[in-house]
Amino acid sequence: MDNIILIGFMGSGKSTVGRCITEIDTKYKQIDTDWYIEKKYRTQISNIFATKGEAAFRQMETDCLKEILKDENGHYVLSVGGGLPMKDENQKLLHQIGRIVYLRASVDTLKGRLSGDKNRPLLQGGDLSDKITDLMNKRQGTYENLADIIIDTDNMTIEDVIEIIMREIQ
Ligand code: S3P
Repeated sequence: MDNIILIGFMGSGKSTVGRCITEIDTKYKQIDTDWYIEKKYRTQISNIFATKGEAAFRQMETDCLKEILKDENGHYVLSVGGGLPMKDENQKLLHQIGRIVYLRASVDTLKGRLSGDKNRPLLQGGDLSDKITDLMNKRQGTYENLADIIIDTDNMTIEDVIEIIMREIQ
């Protein structure tokens, strides 16, 4: 399938990069798994975590990937929630869906972007740096193993990132 998948930690720019790709190449339509779930269940991610729990949210993410797989003719740029690639089943589905691009960013960069964020349940309470570092230690290896393309975004503009993606996916 001719789709681009953007993975990475919360705050790595997946949704923004996804939107810009659809503006540059109108063949692509964007699906963001968080937006998809919020629309389908008509509520916010933070509310799903609070009322149904994380496991239920993770199942919704898997269901979303299965829905996308049904559309064999679509051209999507798919930005996925930061925790979605951690599940084995999702990793297999992602490989079936398209080319996987990891937008890698340092803890310092992410901290700058995520400080004050109230929408991400896994980052609420406690020290933000510690939370990002802990989660990143658990996730980084999976992101790297899963990716077809890794982009170090720390010192790049969005335009730089998009140029690399468009060049690499040709
Ligand atoms: C999560 C990342 C969020 C969202 C949820 C859980 C995670 O998406 O899916 O809050 O586990 O990293 P973004 O990566 O788009 O912020």
